[in-house]
Amino acid sequence: MNDYKDKIKSTIDLDELEKLRIEIFGKKGVLASSFIKLKTLANEEKKEFASKLNILKKELSDLLQEKKEFLERKRVQKVMQKDGVDVTLFDAACESGALHPVQATMDKIINYFLNMNFEIQEGPLVEDDFHNFEALNLPKYHPARDMQDTFYFKDSKLLRTHTSPVQIRTMLKKKPPIRVISPGAVFRRDLDLTHTPQFHQVEGLVVEEGDKVSFANLKFILEDFLTHIFGDVKVRFRPSFFPFTEPSAEVDISCIFCKGEGCRVCSHTGWIEILGCGMVDPNVFSAVGYENVSGYAFGLGIERVAMLLHQIPDLRSLYEGDLRLLEQFK
Ligand code: DAH
Repeated sequence: MNDYKDKIKSTIDLDELEKLRIEIFGKKGVLASSFIKLKTLANEEKKEFASKLNILKKELSDLLQEKKEFLERKRVQKVMQKDGVDVTLFDAACESGALHPVQATMDKIINYFLNMNFEIQEGPLVEDDFHNFEALNLPKYHPARDMQDTFYFKDSKLLRTHTSPVQIRTMLKKKPPIRVISPGAVFRRDLDLTHTPQFHQVEGLVVEEGDKVSFANLKFILEDFLTHIFGDVKVRFRPSFFPFTEPSAEVDISCIFCKGEGCRVCSHTGWIEILGCGMVDPNVFSAVGYENVSGYAFGLGIERVAMLLHQIPDLRSLYEGDLRLLEQFK
């Protein structure tokens, strides 16, 4: 039976090793027949034979186990060599991408408002006159409806000129309390250093029953938001006019380039205009059938924020698809 030790040692294959195991330890294996033989021996002989047999049994079983582990390790190594991927290998051909600065800015703005418990509401890019103008208290003769500014389709549909129509869609769908932002693309017939025909806005709308929402609430959230985005800046509210808010304000931040001293970017005023806002006009509430409610709204352009944050001088460069621009934002 000692040959089995040599046989185990010289095996290089797991299947063969298994065959050997059965030959030795199987029901009809050599060990079993030796134990049968044991029964036929006389007492003295029996004792010696049994102890030798048990030692041999233990040796064979250890050898088998050892060899099995060795062959299994070998097999894994072989598979790894053939199919494995060396993740430490550097592949120069594969470069990482970067978020477009407009998307990155959009994400930053959205995250702020999500943390402030706002929900996201989206609306269609192709709008009608009612949602884009009429319900927002933009009467028929308003200059914003001019063909110069708006892209119209033949069937009186249009490309939305701002994200404010989502306010109307939200209020027609839901009852107060409302706390939403609406990010998305908007379209105007414009093209120069600071305008492209398609750009992006984020609209905000908060409405509650009764007179719970005040201008102070609006002022707090916008001041907090603007310092979150731009860091240590001063924020100023300037009286202004929008048809959909009353009172209305435009909000400026102190120039982030000259710190308010006056430079080319801020036209030497020390201030940069950043968004429009106000208390929702009662005519807007009437258009959606709301009574006895109060609310504020605001809207801002994403590209403008991105240009300021990254000091991009020409807005059009954001949409030329030049990879050299994106590479700067990795
Ligand atoms: N819709 C305005 C625009 O496109 C931005 C705006 C101003 C939105 C004031 C508002 C607001 O909700 O209250 O210029």
